[in-house]
Amino acid sequence: MSEPLLYLPPSATFVPRKMVFSTWVDHMPFGYDLIAALRPSKLVELGTHKGLSFYTFCQSMVEHDVDGVCYAVDCWEGDDHTGAYGEDIFNEVSEHVREYYRGVAYLLRMLFQDAAKQFDADSIDILHIDGLHTYEAVREDFETWYPKVKPGGILLFHDVEARIKDFGAWKYWQELEQDYSTFKFNHGFGLGVLQKAGGEENTHPLLRLLFNSDSETQERLRRFYVHLCRYNELERKAARAELQRARQQQSQGQQ
Ligand SMILES: C[S@@+](CC[C@H](N)C(=O)[O-])C[C@H]1O[C@@H](n2cnc3c(N)ncnc32)[C@H](O)[C@@H]1O
Repeated sequence: MSEPLLYLPPSATFVPRKMVFSTWVDHMPFGYDLIAALRPSKLVELGTHKGLSFYTFCQSMVEHDVDGVCYAVDCWEGDDHTGAYGEDIFNEVSEHVREYYRGVAYLLRMLFQDAAKQFDADSIDILHIDGLHTYEAVREDFETWYPKVKPGGILLFHDVEARIKDFGAWKYWQELEQDYSTFKFNHGFGLGVLQKAGGEENTHPLLRLLFNSDSETQERLRRFYVHLCRYNELERKAARAELQRARQQQSQGQQ
C-alpha cells in the first residue's frame, strides 16, 4: 500500500528571484527542495547557459542558510543544441551572481574537461549534468565526473525524456538505471536523479521517498511535482496578466 508523503517541501513557498527562459522550469521546485534536503558543501553544474537551474540551487542555498559553494561550469558560447550565443548571456549571469550570490557561487568559464582537473575525487555532493545532450557527450560527462562525486552524493541528469533530434541522454540514462540507484521525473524533458553508493545514510524524507519507497509512493511524488509546476506556471501567468492590466490602466490614465 502507498504511504503518505508526510513531507511539506520548502518549494511550497519558493518564489524564484529571477526567471529566464529554460526548459528546466519544470524542475525548479525539486531542485530547490533537493538543496534544502542535502545541504551540500559543494555543488557543481555542467552547463548553465542563462542560469535557471543554477539560480534555483543558489537561491535555495541562501534561503536555507547552507554553508556551501556552487560552481557553474560553461564555456558560455553555446553548443550544437543551444546554438551559439553572445557575450550578453555570460554578462547577465555573472552580474546576477555577483549581486545576489557573492561567496556562494563561482562561474568557471571553461570546458568541462578542463574544469574537471580542479576537483578532487569524492569531493562533490551534487553534480548536475546539463551540457550537450548527445549520447556520447552525456556519457563522457558522466565518466569524467562520476569519480569526483562523494559516496552517497547525487547526480542530476536533465533531458532524460527528450527524444528529439540527436538527443541521447534518455538512452544513456536507461543504461545507468541498470547499474545504479536511480529515480526519474518524467515531466518536462525529464530529470534523472542518481545516488552514488556508499557514504552515510541520509534520512531526510525526500531522499527516502526518492530511493526507498514503494513504486506507488514514488508515482505520487512524481505527480506532486507535476502539480506544483503547473500551479507555479498559473501563478506566473496570473502575475503577467496583472502587470499588463496595470500598465494598460496607467497608459489609459495618461491619455
Ligand atoms: C542545455 S544548456 C544548460 C541549461 C541550463 N542548465 C538551464 O537551466 O537552462 C547547455 C550549456 O552547456 C554548455 N556546454 C556544452 N558542452 C560544454 C562543454 N564541453 N564545456 C563547456 N560548456 C559546455 C553550453 O555552452 C550551454 O550553455
